[in-house]
Amino acid sequence: MTQPRQILVTSALPYANGAIHLGHLVEYIQTDIWVRFQKLRGHQCLYVCADDAHGTPIMLRAQREGITPEELIARVGEEHRADFADFHIGFDNFHSTHSEENRELAMLIYTRLREGGHISTRSIKQAFDPEEKMFLPDRFIKGSCPRCKTPDQYGDSCEHCGATYAPTDLIDPVSAISGATPVEKETEHFFFELGDFEAMLKEWTAGDHMQPEIRHKLNEWLDSGLRPWDITRDAPYFGFEIPDAPGKYFYVWLDAPIGYMASFRNLCARRADLDFDAWWGADSGTELYHFIGKDIAYFHTLFWPAMLRGAGFRLPSAVFCHGFLTVNGQKMSKSRGTFIMARTYLEHLDAEYLRYYYAAKLGSGIDDLDLNLEDFMQRVNSDLVGKVVNIASRCAGFIRKRFGGRLSASLSEAALIDSFAARGEAIAALYEQREFGHAMREIMALADQANQYIDEKKPWVIAKEEGRDGELQDICSTGINLYRILIAYLKPVLPVLAEKSEAFLNIAPLDWAAVATPLVDHEINKFKPLMTRIEKDRIDAMVDASKDDLAARDDSASPASGPLHDDPIAPEIDFDDFAKLDLRVARIVRAEHVEGADKLLRLTLDLGGETRNVFAGIKSAYAPEDLEGRLTVMVANLKPRKMRFGVSEGMVLAAGPGGKDLWILSPDEGAQPGMKVK
Ligand code: 2FM
Ligand code: ZN
Repeated sequence: MTQPRQILVTSALPYANGAIHLGHLVEYIQTDIWVRFQKLRGHQCLYVCADDAHGTPIMLRAQREGITPEELIARVGEEHRADFADFHIGFDNFHSTHSEENRELAMLIYTRLREGGHISTRSIKQAFDPEEKMFLPDRFIKGSCPRCKTPDQYGDSCEHCGATYAPTDLIDPVSAISGATPVEKETEHFFFELGDFEAMLKEWTAGDHMQPEIRHKLNEWLDSGLRPWDITRDAPYFGFEIPDAPGKYFYVWLDAPIGYMASFRNLCARRADLDFDAWWGADSGTELYHFIGKDIAYFHTLFWPAMLRGAGFRLPSAVFCHGFLTVNGQKMSKSRGTFIMARTYLEHLDAEYLRYYYAAKLGSGIDDLDLNLEDFMQRVNSDLVGKVVNIASRCAGFIRKRFGGRLSASLSEAALIDSFAARGEAIAALYEQREFGHAMREIMALADQANQYIDEKKPWVIAKEEGRDGELQDICSTGINLYRILIAYLKPVLPVLAEKSEAFLNIAPLDWAAVATPLVDHEINKFKPLMTRIEKDRIDAMVDASKDDLAARDDSASPASGPLHDDPIAPEIDFDDFAKLDLRVARIVRAEHVEGADKLLRLTLDLGGETRNVFAGIKSAYAPEDLEGRLTVMVANLKPRKMRFGVSEGMVLAAGPGGKDLWILSPDEGAQPGMKVK
């Protein structure tokens, strides 16, 4: 074992206005596996994170909900913590960027940059919402694309043709908040002079601090010239107001990465053995790694190192980027039920299944990772249940029943056990390099070997033969020892299975070094099933439940969530596609609560002779008694869809921002059930 290292690790800070979903979890699971691995190797490894709590979207979201931003971030913070804990993400600290530590550190860094001459001031023209009296970030201006003329595009890029442009280029721009036409207004902003750090960044980029693909991208950015970075925003804004510049706030992306330091400082306050300066000082001998998605490499490989250097702090040892998640080969989709929230997953499946599947598919590169739900089920069932846990279950019964739980005092297959232990360094090297998929393949090859050994020795046959007890105990003790080594290797990925196995094996928590010493003449406990198979109906139920989430999540119903919705307008359809929709007026003859569904009502709709059963995610807006007897509009020719609670035979049309404000009713006057809507 090499000298213990001191390693500080971070994952990107999740925004405090939305729930954690399976896409986010790629990163937290990847980081957590790496951190747990380092800890098992005997290193001091600390993992910190925080909520990214500032910015316009959070301010507006709180406004929409009628609460303060502080209330919003406190609520979401609790949800995030619970989701992470239930996925066994073992942060040493989880803090918030809206914290005193972060305020002080952001001010300190800003002041040092200013004193170093790296902050400039200049007047810029920015779009201003005359009704809301606020400057509008590009994403909050909408209009028609200047290139392809598609309406309803954001102010920075067109979802339809991919063009990027300035919001001033949009045709007929409107504020996405109020709908008013924005005006241009002059305002003074502070800029960070990134160009001052060009030489330093070029040198840093050339070092071994990032993956080759990211270095390549960085060189392109460096070659195209470093422009000053706008680091302030005007009131109203939710963030840190700059004390000597009232009405000006730090831009969220300035104080977000500083949140890594703030979370660590908050941890130092609780841990006497940790000295902030020893970890963050310019001459720190510790290691610092940031795990992030490839989309935010720009902030972490250019702005962040420059800020740290300019303010006299250490630089990251490396920034590790990963790709995005696809589900069944496609972008996560709310309508397909593959936009799966962490909580929805947990209501149906065990967190360790996903941890294993992600590990099996992760490498050190930036390729996207596909969660294929069929493959997920098969891989978990075959590898974890069929191969790994099976080894223990095949051997434990004999040891328990025939030998009072006692393993043999000596093992005749020492060479086999040693060969398993000898793979430890190679597997460790794969973990270290974040080649988790490769590590899992190595471990499963060992599991195959262990099963082959048991197949060949046939303990179930020997058990029936007289006078072969010693042999039986020896074979099963060998199997148990092989299992123990596999569990040690899988422990970074499967901490709960490892803990249950440690209890079954009646041993102290395993670490990497433990595999070198076999378990002999030792009493193990009764074997209880350690992991169960994934049944297909659990996955189906999760996908269905994710479809319900779509129906009623405040911010997801499109276009019901109004101008602020996250869903882009779907690709254009032609008139023939539209004509396929059969929209009809229907009378709601019955409306009922659905047991076990938070958001759904079951509607019985009369289409003028024909009745339909339809589930609608409108419980937040309507009590059943308000609906009965009223008219609504439905898509009458939608293929029936099996949901968790029954079959839904159509869909009602809803409009409004969501929550309480959702309207599905059609005026009664002049309308009658079955009438076609044109
Ligand atoms: O992209 C995001 O989700 C950001 N909230 C990540 C911030 S990472 C760090 F810089 F704080
Ligand atoms: Zn366009």
